[in-house]
Amino acid sequence: MLINPIEFTFTPDITAVNKQQFDEHLKLYNNYVKSINEITNELVTLNNEEREKANTTNGYFRGLKRGETYALDGVILHELYFYNMGGIKSKPDCSILSLIEHFYGGFENWRADFIATAKASRGWAILCYEQRTKMLRNISLDAHDHGDIMMSLPLLILDMYEHAYFMQYGTNKESYIKAFLNNINWDIVRNRVNLWHLDEETK
Ligand SMILES: [Fe+2]
Repeated sequence: MLINPIEFTFTPDITAVNKQQFDEHLKLYNNYVKSINEITNELVTLNNEEREKANTTNGYFRGLKRGETYALDGVILHELYFYNMGGIKSKPDCSILSLIEHFYGGFENWRADFIATAKASRGWAILCYEQRTKMLRNISLDAHDHGDIMMSLPLLILDMYEHAYFMQYGTNKESYIKAFLNNINWDIVRNRVNLWHLDEETK
């Protein structure tokens, strides 16, 4: 099934990045949508001769499979990121705060770990709930498709690719991370917590 890009626009509530940085970023997002649609079409119409030649080193089919997860994760992660940016609360309320305090022993502990996770990431920093270990985790992805954990539910997403901040912040990634932490839309994060009934985990 082909997908349509979501039409994100820069709004005054977005303070972590400026309009130029935001608009350039959107172009990359739209390219990922275009790529996954092209790959999906190609997989549907591909002849079986290409499938018979599939191997782990090279070839057209392997390229499609690598591109499939990279482009689709690129779309999903960017949408989650753009949605959870744009808020004025530096701290969340009720359900998400209880969850963070339960697993990290305090909001500041979680915040320090999230900042470190972001600084250590070449791609993405993600707060997720991992269902196998039943833990809240800050995880680090070096690329869209490198570092994801199966069964984890994404709650808060930060893009740490240089394209996300370099135009505005240069090499000062910590300023970008802290600006993001002060501009999280915690209502969106809370909706994700509620969607998966994660508040039950602290009871
Ligand atoms: Fe990005």
